Amino acid sequence: MACIVLLVWMLGNTRQDPYTKATLVLEGSEQHGGQIFRINCAGCHGIAGQGLVGPSLKGVSDRRKNMQIIHQIVSGETPPMPRFEIEPQNMADLLAYLKTLS
Ligand code: HEC
Repeated sequence: MACIVLLVWMLGNTRQDPYTKATLVLEGSEQHGGQIFRINCAGCHGIAGQGLVGPSLKGVSDRRKNMQIIHQIVSGETPPMPRFEIEPQNMADLLAYLKTLS
């Protein structure tokens, strides 16, 4: 029984929506991701992701899987962080930038 529960949980966890899928196959540009970050995110997370109103994002790529980070950004489930609508390429760029924050 525990095995089945675990299996269902794992399947549910790894299932990706089309947006996430489209994003994860793209190669991101750190530099462009940095621009997107400074415009959309730095007001809350700090100019270098060091944390301000929102938490520090240093090392976030080690703590969270890319698909979890994408969900955080597009879902709007944790106010006051708004939900963002970002093209897959721009999201890939953003993820590449977040990876550089350590
Ligand atoms: C209005 C302020 C605000 C803005 C703008 C904002 N955030 Fe956030 N963000 C937050 C807050 C507050 C949290 C903590 C949410 C919680 O867990 O309760 C958070 C959490 C996060 C987390 C999860 C951190 C972790 O350790 O799990 C990530 C990743 C993140 N934000 C990325 C971004 C990105 C990328 C952008 C720009 C596209 C952005 N945020 C814009 C306020 C903001």
